[in-house]
Amino acid sequence: MKSFYVTSPIYYVNDVPHIGHAYTSLACDVLARFMRFDGYRVHFLSGTDEHGQKVAKAAALAGVDPQAFTDKVSQNFRALLPAMGCSNDDFIRTTEQRHKDSVQAIWRAMAARKTPKGNDNIYLGKYDGWYAVRDEAYYDESELTTGPDGKKRAPSGAEVEWVEEPSYFFRLSDWGDWLLEWYEKNPDAVGPATRRNEVMSFVKQGLHDLSISRTTFDWGIKVPGDEKHVMYVWLDALTNYITAVGYPNVESDLFKTFWPASVHMVGKDIVRFHAVYWPAFLEAAGLAPAKRVYAHGWWTNEGQKISKSLGNVIDPIKLIETYGLDQVRYFLMREVPFGQDGDYSQAAMIRRMNTDLANDLGNLGQRVLSFVAKNAGACVPTPGDFSDADRAMLDKAAALLAIVRADMAQQGFHKALDAVFAVVAEANRYVDAQAPWTLRKTDPARMATVLYVLMEILRRVALLLQPYMPTTMARLLDQLAVPTDARDASAWDKVLVAGTALPAPQGLFPRYVDPAAPVAGEGPKKK
Ligand code: MSP
Repeated sequence: MKSFYVTSPIYYVNDVPHIGHAYTSLACDVLARFMRFDGYRVHFLSGTDEHGQKVAKAAALAGVDPQAFTDKVSQNFRALLPAMGCSNDDFIRTTEQRHKDSVQAIWRAMAARKTPKGNDNIYLGKYDGWYAVRDEAYYDESELTTGPDGKKRAPSGAEVEWVEEPSYFFRLSDWGDWLLEWYEKNPDAVGPATRRNEVMSFVKQGLHDLSISRTTFDWGIKVPGDEKHVMYVWLDALTNYITAVGYPNVESDLFKTFWPASVHMVGKDIVRFHAVYWPAFLEAAGLAPAKRVYAHGWWTNEGQKISKSLGNVIDPIKLIETYGLDQVRYFLMREVPFGQDGDYSQAAMIRRMNTDLANDLGNLGQRVLSFVAKNAGACVPTPGDFSDADRAMLDKAAALLAIVRADMAQQGFHKALDAVFAVVAEANRYVDAQAPWTLRKTDPARMATVLYVLMEILRRVALLLQPYMPTTMARLLDQLAVPTDARDASAWDKVLVAGTALPAPQGLFPRYVDPAAPVAGEGPKKK
């Protein structure tokens, strides 16, 4: 069986989960569900990043011991996944023993091997330089700006502090040529293309050795053989992707099946860690780098950067309560071309719900299924000969699988939706043109053919939308009497069987009516 391994970043447990976290996990879920649909054995991993200074500071601020703190906060992230309808196969915490063992093993493996230039990968030195706790990242003086408040800041806006401490280094400076060759040989290793270019020009500028241990605090995994040092949190965190498939047991079924990972899904802010440091660490340890890192953009809220200090953080659970899970999933995957930045606004959310879902898809389903229930004996109609228009419609829907498959391979989630909804729009035009309500009186046999065509379109559309809107599409497939074992790609051409009895139709997507909006004849309601 073909295999597919997709990972979300592991989330820092310093904070409550917000829309940005939900977004990355959702993208992984849509991909995981599509690949399962397409016959792959899938492993979908998410989890929490629990060590390092950022989390230690958050725990101290809360007045709680870091382990107790992470035990508690990690739960919020674990719970977000099922709330978002995510189908992850595993959830990893970096404070688990399996992970500590794995991180110490990768350190030893790196230390035991040489760089492409024949030097030791790891050496002991001293770090003197800038560090941003918010990003858990080291910065060069040249990358910093000084604000009107006199504080130095990283390009991300995070404040930096001066650090001087003994530290182990990873000899990244020896890996530049190897990395450039690797990007050249693997054009899909980093996507989208803008990020790939960004990464390559960063590497071309020349790489500095990377500090991979800290000594001024102890909330981390100890360096084997030198317990005064804890490992740099990004070395610890990135390693989660191999821990979860059994590392250091490289002979395990999981490791052999799923490593190298198919896609590491990340936000654009953490590309450098995933596309520069991580492949170098892996290669240094004698392991294959992941096949692809794909970086999505960032959401703003009604045009503003999302931040806790601005108080405009979007709570995904509240969104789901207000608009419905499948509606939120659809919106997030459809509103913004995946890979680009985008803006959340309530108006856009409601527009997508009412236009694409209620009007276009919901209405098509409702019109067809209630018409069949009333006028075609509540069972799948028996088609006669297909006209050119019928064939053209059926062919467009049949072609969708290949289109969606190709889009998914590039993480073009919005493109796949575009293609499917173009067929929905076409089907709405087809209903109007064929007018089954007129045929009912003039040509019932032709009416049956038209309804059959429409039900076939709905079947194919529902099959492909399952990864995005699993609950509603399961209901639509139930209403089309598609057996549960005929809902994956292998059943793509298994057309509806004429005469199959259909359950009573139900609405799919209710129109959203703002509860605060004025109702005709009434004054505005209080918010
Ligand atoms: N712990 C690291 C990842 C380690 S992976 C080995 C981390 N965690 S995070 O919690 O800060 O961020 C996780 C993800 O959330 C990132 O992919 C980030 O891009 C995403 N988002 C955070 N805010 C976001 C938006 N406003 N919009 C979209 N995604 C954003 O980084």
